[in-house]
Amino acid sequence: MDFTGRAVIVTGAGSGIGRAAARLFADAGARVLGVGRREDALKATAADHPRIAVHPADLRTPATAREVIGEAFHRMGRLDVLVNNAGATKMMPLAETSAEGIAGLFDLNVTAPSLLASAALPHLRQAKGTIVNVSSTYGHRPLPGAAHYAASKAALEHLTRSWALELAADGIRVNALAPGPTESEALTAAGLPQPVVEQIKQDEAARIPLGRRGDPEEVATWILRLADPRTTWLTGQTLTLDGGLELA
Ligand SMILES: NC(=O)c1ccc[n+]([C@@H]2O[C@H](COP(=O)([O-])OP(=O)(O)OC[C@H]3O[C@@H](n4cnc5c(N)ncnc54)[C@H](OP(=O)(O)O)[C@@H]3O)[C@@H](O)[C@H]2O)c1
Repeated sequence: MDFTGRAVIVTGAGSGIGRAAARLFADAGARVLGVGRREDALKATAADHPRIAVHPADLRTPATAREVIGEAFHRMGRLDVLVNNAGATKMMPLAETSAEGIAGLFDLNVTAPSLLASAALPHLRQAKGTIVNVSSTYGHRPLPGAAHYAASKAALEHLTRSWALELAADGIRVNALAPGPTESEALTAAGLPQPVVEQIKQDEAARIPLGRRGDPEEVATWILRLADPRTTWLTGQTLTLDGGLELA
């Protein structure tokens, strides 16, 4: 894949799938702006990758979206690809559901991608660019104990379809990637203790037909394929990449 001369924003670029995507885009010739809260993690992503610039910011703050898009245009002079990858999961059984818990998930998983896409629109129109939203197998499968995470990803998948139609006349393609359980910081970031994280990983690997959790690079490569300028006729779709989990 060749992204030479293209400008890309990857949110959540300080770890996991976002870090792998930022590096793969840079390796493919793109200039990349990586966004996340931890500057040190973003800098580690950018180490040895001079085409990756970093912008530490909290995407749960609504004003961040315009700031990120402004920074990207200022640095790169164009915007071809917006990857809405930053996201969080949270175990929240119905009996323990709180307004704060729901808002925290939706602010990051739904509102932030929406505000970023909105702010990016003039530049994406100019470049006939593309948006890739990172959902989850559980964006279209039930997830007992974490229903609001699943619902936030279902919302993102539906936004993907609606935006694809809304923006088709502008030549902007919008697709989603729905990974299954993948090695990353997601479970730790959800505040789960390490023994629980290890147990969940084992259980997930056992349920996945291909017998293992995903690797961030093998997931991120599909973000690039969806965004590839040569992928010209694909829009409004959600690609599930999960070792067969959604079928099991
Ligand atoms: N790993 C999986 O099993 C899996 C499965 C399905 C879907 N996904 C989805 O894949 C995407 C990437 O997750 P991952 O697995 O790579 O997990 P991860 O390693 O936890 O990455 C999430 C990234 O989002 C950033 N982030 C979190 N809150 C943020 C905020 N408020 N503002 C800005 N950035 C924020 C984090 O950086 P900071 O903490 O520095 O902000 C982190 O780098 C997420 O949307 C996730 O829901 C993951």
